[in-house]
Amino acid sequence: MALEAIRYSRGSLQILDQLLLPQQSRYEAVGSVQQAWEAIRAMKVRGAPAIALVGCLSLAVELQAGAGGPGPAALVAFVRDKLSVLVSARPTAVNMARAARSLADAAAREAEKEGATEAAVRERVICHAEDMLDQDLRDNQRIGDLGAHHLLERAAPGGGKVTVLTHCNTGALATAGYGTALGVIRSLHKLNRLEHAFCTETRPYNQGARLTAFELVFEQIPATLIADSMAAVAMARKGVSAVIVGADRVVANGDTANKVGTYQLAIVAKHHGVPFYVAAPSSSCDLGLQTGRDIVIEERPGHELTEINGVRIAAPGIGVWNPAFDVTPHELITGGIITERGVFTPEELRAALSATIPSGGG
Ligand code: MRU
Repeated sequence: MALEAIRYSRGSLQILDQLLLPQQSRYEAVGSVQQAWEAIRAMKVRGAPAIALVGCLSLAVELQAGAGGPGPAALVAFVRDKLSVLVSARPTAVNMARAARSLADAAAREAEKEGATEAAVRERVICHAEDMLDQDLRDNQRIGDLGAHHLLERAAPGGGKVTVLTHCNTGALATAGYGTALGVIRSLHKLNRLEHAFCTETRPYNQGARLTAFELVFEQIPATLIADSMAAVAMARKGVSAVIVGADRVVANGDTANKVGTYQLAIVAKHHGVPFYVAAPSSSCDLGLQTGRDIVIEERPGHELTEINGVRIAAPGIGVWNPAFDVTPHELITGGIITERGVFTPEELRAALSATIPSGGG
C-alpha cells in the first residue's frame, strides 16, 4: 500500500487531510475550486506539486459536473477565472501558477480550432489536468533514481552507505507520489545504500515531525527526528553525507525558495563541508525570475507559531513574524539541483531547462 495525498478518478477528488496526521488518516471530498482553495489555504493539502495538482483536478471535477459555458469561448473564460482564484491561495510555490498557465493555454488552443465545441474544450482541460498527475509521479521516480545514483557516486564512490538529512515534507504527501527529496531517500533505501535519514521537525508547522516522520516510519526507512536547532550538531557528530531538500520555486540563477529553515541548513552544511542538494521537478523552476529577491514569500498567521494543535505555547501578547519560506542563495547549493532531466549546478540550470521551461513562470 502506498501513501496517497490525492485520490482522483474522473469526476471525483479526495485529499488526505494533512492537518490531522499523524493521529488520523481521513480523506475529504473536494468537489469545487472553492473547496480546493480553502483546503490549500488551510494546508490540509500542501507541498508545491500537490497544491498544483489538487487545484487543477478540482477544476477538472467541476468541469466534469458540467460547470462553465455555454460555448467554447465562455468555457475558456470560466477556466481562466477559476485558475486565477487557485493561483492566489499560496503565492510562493510556482507550480500552481505554471500549471494554471498551461491549462489555460490548452483550453484556448482547443477553442481556437475550427469547429471547436464546448465538449472538446471541457475534455481537453480535464485530460490535461489528469496528465499532470501522471507526469508528476513519473518525474519524482526519475528524480529519486537520478539523485540517488549521483549522490552515491559523489559520497560513496567505493560502495557503502550514506546518511542524509532532510527538511520539511517532500514525500508522497507533498506530490502525486514518491516525492522529490524524500524520493531520493526512498531510492537510496531501495538500493540498500541508505545508512540513515535525519528529518528536522520543521517549525513552525512541523511538517517534518508530523508528515516526513510518518512517511519514513510507514516505509520502514531507518530514520531519526531532530529539532531544527539540532542540525549543526547532527552534521558535526552524526556523519551526515548530504542535505537534500525540496523546492517551492527555483529561479534562473539557482536561488531556491523552500520551507523556512532551509537557508540556515545550507549555511550549516557549507560550514561542515556537507554537500547541499535541492531536489525538484522542472515544474518547480521559474526562469522568468532572475534572482531569489524577486520571489514573493508567503507570510502565514501567527497562531501557527504560537500554538501547537490549538494549544497556546507562546507568552500572550508577544508579536509574531511567520514567513513560511526562505530563499537559499545559489552559492550555498553546493551539491546540485536534482531534476527529472538531470542533476545540474545552479549555474547550469538556466541553459539546461530554457528550451522547455517558459520564461514567465510565475
Ligand atoms: O508550506 P508547505 O508545507 O506547503 O511547504 C512545503 C515545502 O516547502 C516543500 O519542501 C516544497 O513544497 C517541496 S514539496 C515536494
